[in-house]
Amino acid sequence: MRELRGKVAIVTGAASGIGAATARILAREGAAVVVADINGPGADEVAGKIAAGGGRAVPAAVDVGEPDQVAAMVDTAVREFGGLDVLHSNASLLDPRVLGRDLEIADLDPDVWDRVMRVNLRGYMLGAKYAIPPMLSRGGGVIVHTSSVTGLQSEYRRSAYSTSKAAIIGFTRAVATQYGKEGIRCVAVAPGLVLTEGLTSNMPAPVRDMSLAHHLTPRLGEPDDIGELVSFLASDRAAFITGCTVPIDGGLSAHVAAYADERRFMESHTAPR
Ligand SMILES: NC(=O)c1ccc[n+]([C@@H]2O[C@H](COP(=O)([O-])OP(=O)(O)OC[C@H]3O[C@@H](n4cnc5c(N)ncnc54)[C@H](O)[C@@H]3O)[C@@H](O)[C@H]2O)c1
Repeated sequence: MRELRGKVAIVTGAASGIGAATARILAREGAAVVVADINGPGADEVAGKIAAGGGRAVPAAVDVGEPDQVAAMVDTAVREFGGLDVLHSNASLLDPRVLGRDLEIADLDPDVWDRVMRVNLRGYMLGAKYAIPPMLSRGGGVIVHTSSVTGLQSEYRRSAYSTSKAAIIGFTRAVATQYGKEGIRCVAVAPGLVLTEGLTSNMPAPVRDMSLAHHLTPRLGEPDDIGELVSFLASDRAAFITGCTVPIDGGLSAHVAAYADERRFMESHTAPR
């Protein structure tokens, strides 16, 4: 169907995980894609693979917390492909050396808070700030933000990360409210646990299993699950969706907190159904 044919998209955090999957899927649907990441060689590789498969993609090395670099990233889309229709702001500071110090509030180093907010929140603000003018000049566009279930519900530790993901939900509403009448839609997606390479190498298996017990689906998420949703939200089929957050979490946010414990208890005390 290639429903994004003729569209130009930027995906940040696209060197790996969810961003790489989204870049590939947007290109499959016909979009020309700027593959943006602070990891320049990683962005080169993803863009190269898309191009080798017959898609249109260019890499951009960018730190999303730096205004000049974000402006240059948007210029790349305009210069290479003639404009901008879709921005997927998805980059996040997930370095375990920083997130490992993202503790309970009383023990939180304010520098860790600032570093997380700089990428996860300021980065999204800068993306929208520089993407909106070229979108307006084409009569509109779509901005999709990657939030998280941890933006809807809090978690053990990771105070800064979960607060940044909650703030993205508010920022999404602000963009949608301010620019909706001019043709710009803004939507957030809130993934549950998605099995990216970074996550599988950093999360102990028992913690992953605990998380799986709280998802309602038989499996955890895959990067392509999120990419397919972003592709739909970027398309005209989603023309009436804006200002909201779409959970894509295998039901993680759908049930009462005691679900997994209760299920385990019932299964060990009753005959299987
Ligand atoms: N994997 C999950 O379970 C999960 C769940 C909910 C939300 N998310 C969110 O999904 C998004 C993608 O995460 P992922 O799981 O694919 O992880 P990932 O580590 O594979 O991708 C994150 C990317 O962001 C890039 N990045 C980091 N700092 C940057 C900066 N300053 N400028 C530009 N790029 C930068 C990294 O280089 C990396 O390529 C993040 O926003 C994350 O918070 C992930």
